[in-house]
Amino acid sequence: MKFYSDILGLVGNTPLVKINRLANQHGIKAQIFAKMENLNPGFSVKDRIGISMIEAAEKDGSLKPGGTIVEATSGNTGIGLAIAAAVKGYKCVFVLTEKASMEKSRYLKSLGSDVVICPAAAKPGTPDHYVEMAKRIAQETPNSFYPDQYNHPANPLAHYRTTGPELWRDTDGRITHFVSSIGTGGTISGTSRYLKEQNPKIKIIGADPYGSIFKTYKESGCVPEATPYLVEGIGQNLPVGNADMKIIDEIINVTDRESFELARQLSRVEGIFCGGSTGTNFAAALKVAKELDEDALVVFIVCDTGEHYLTKFHSDEWMKEKLLLEPQRITAGLITGTKTASAPPELIFVAPDEIVSNALARMSEHSVTQIPVLEDHKSIGSLRESGVLTRLLEKRDLLDAKVSEIMDESFPVLDVDASFNDIKKKLQKSPAVLIEDFKRITGIITRSDVLDLQKN
Ligand SMILES: Cc1ncc(COP(=O)(O)O)c(C=O)c1O
Repeated sequence: MKFYSDILGLVGNTPLVKINRLANQHGIKAQIFAKMENLNPGFSVKDRIGISMIEAAEKDGSLKPGGTIVEATSGNTGIGLAIAAAVKGYKCVFVLTEKASMEKSRYLKSLGSDVVICPAAAKPGTPDHYVEMAKRIAQETPNSFYPDQYNHPANPLAHYRTTGPELWRDTDGRITHFVSSIGTGGTISGTSRYLKEQNPKIKIIGADPYGSIFKTYKESGCVPEATPYLVEGIGQNLPVGNADMKIIDEIINVTDRESFELARQLSRVEGIFCGGSTGTNFAAALKVAKELDEDALVVFIVCDTGEHYLTKFHSDEWMKEKLLLEPQRITAGLITGTKTASAPPELIFVAPDEIVSNALARMSEHSVTQIPVLEDHKSIGSLRESGVLTRLLEKRDLLDAKVSEIMDESFPVLDVDASFNDIKKKLQKSPAVLIEDFKRITGIITRSDVLDLQKN
């Protein structure tokens, strides 16, 4: 028989996968490889430290049978700990911030853990901050163990013992550049220490979101004010014990837009379905690789799976809401299907035989200055405030007339699949376009609906 004695045997020994089409598209001569940490049993790089921190704590006696593990996590470390805790029979409580995706917190609950959510905006050191909350819960819970991934030596040690040697072995010692984001710093610090011991010339590149402190902190020693960003699990607003700044040669800042776009491209073009921090890493890897020749071999970490972010940046609707959606992905159906409370999703219209005063009342009730006239779900005309008011000034009796007697021409009609460019073209000539799905008018797009999206 061939089998693993438990799921923990599957942690680590993840493969390298060559990046082909995207490297070509970006004109890269160097070889770029993805280290597929998303293939760990908990689908992230953090499975490695879950088991290593637990085993270290069992050894030094800080974790005893029947104990409860309490940790502050963006989700993945919790998953790694929860898998090991399930196998070994410990209880878990994890403290996340609201920024962590719903998928990760549900996943933790499915693994049997309790989950506490803290406000994302809480400042470090304040009682509501997720790290302070985790410390407090640990203090109040009998027989508890607080791993503190930000400072526990078993975090970088796991990568020194496993991730580093795997990269050295699987590249036959030919790796020239290693690219990793920095959350706790465990991955980059531990892996890089091993790699530099084998070959001090290997360059270590940190990938850091704009808004995080690491780049400025490394380059100047000063800690700048952090600003919010959307990528999960990486970057910090304060220096971290496990993030060894000295071992990193260069830190590259990456925007949310680049991170998400490249993570989405890795899925579509290479079939590598990954999270946002992987996009951050890949963006930094491309920037480094652009300057390198054929002899260079760049490896970046695929930190976790895209499945953790199906309701976030892997959703076109979410990307649109954050004004990050690639323009070529914006369709008429997506715009009408994701209208917000300020622009109601249901289509407001009038029938041709309604009385003009009723139609005007409906326009005023919904604060719209134009309204389509529909009959049997087809567009036969429109009422536009300026035109109607001019006519009413001339002839007040028209208030009691039928809409069909005074209506203007119909707004242009586009199919739900029409592209952003087609919509913009029509809106240059008309204040609104109507959207048709299966021969029925289902929505309207006005100039103000596309103004925000124009920022893309
Ligand atoms: C999605 C994701 N990417 C990257 C990282 C960074 O790894 P490390 O903490 O080893 O720096 C984390 C850490 O939690 C993470 O959750």
